Amino acid sequence: MRAMFAETRLTPDRFILPIFIHDHDDAAPIDGMPGQARLSVALAVDQAKAAAAVGVKGVLLFGVPARKDHDGSGAADPDGIVPRTVRAMRDALGDSVVLVADCCLCSYTDSGHCGITNERGVIDNARSVAQLAAVATTYATAGADLIAPSDMMDGRVAAIRQAMSAAGHGDTGILSYAAKSASAFYGPFRDAADCAPQQGDRRAYQLDPGNGREALRAILRDVEEGADAVIVKPAGTALDIIAEARATTNVPIAAYQVSGEFAALHAAAERGWLDLRAATLESLTAIHRAGADLIVTYAALDAARWLADG
Ligand code: PBG
Repeated sequence: MRAMFAETRLTPDRFILPIFIHDHDDAAPIDGMPGQARLSVALAVDQAKAAAAVGVKGVLLFGVPARKDHDGSGAADPDGIVPRTVRAMRDALGDSVVLVADCCLCSYTDSGHCGITNERGVIDNARSVAQLAAVATTYATAGADLIAPSDMMDGRVAAIRQAMSAAGHGDTGILSYAAKSASAFYGPFRDAADCAPQQGDRRAYQLDPGNGREALRAILRDVEEGADAVIVKPAGTALDIIAEARATTNVPIAAYQVSGEFAALHAAAERGWLDLRAATLESLTAIHRAGADLIVTYAALDAARWLADG
């Protein structure tokens, strides 16, 4: 009877699994994210195969480069970690997994900021957007299906759309992190991607978590600029924004269950305070119920297996 009347049903094809790739041959476990590691290109391909095997349809690729510089120029290197991973995954998996390339500078700049800073340490929006458009074009050329700009600079979706079209990649989609707030829940990720800001914080470009109307405006603006789908992030603290976005727009909506949400569930479960499986599936169900078509989650593989077990 419960199954018959269930309103919300999770399926693995709605999950997108983030994967961190570094320039080493081994796997480096990530503190604060049990079961997650920075992987070599070859191991990342294996991980994408594991995702496909349990029905997870998408992977979200984060490069963790060995070298950084002021402008984050490594992000636009055609032989950088992400382009190499995209090519290797496409060779090994064909079209069975959707390859989403996270597009940001924060792992590539020595400032740790998502854009290029000027001599006063302040973001130069115009230079940042030009660089991000070059990075997106590089990933599109490598064969990514979707580009996911997570930098939050103003006007980057339009610039990326224009640059990719000019380079002959008009068919590459944009999954924009449109409503991304300056959150305390990104801690473990910043260790994983080695991208903590060296000075200051990200409040100049990420949204105030209390501003729901501004988040809606940011979503509508990205759609206007040419985003094919949008991401709300973090997910668990923004269920109202997901629901409003669902009611206001007709683009597909993704929500990102971020590193801190994942870490909190695991930490409580390790102490015996929560049941990991039940709490994870409940949190993912709530995100889907709120209106997210897609869920980016580090728990994608576990959740897919749990759902298959019934
Ligand atoms: C930065 C980026 C962040 C995340 C994804 N892309 C961190 C930040 O904005 O500081 C966070 C993801 C997570 O916490 O799981 N481009």
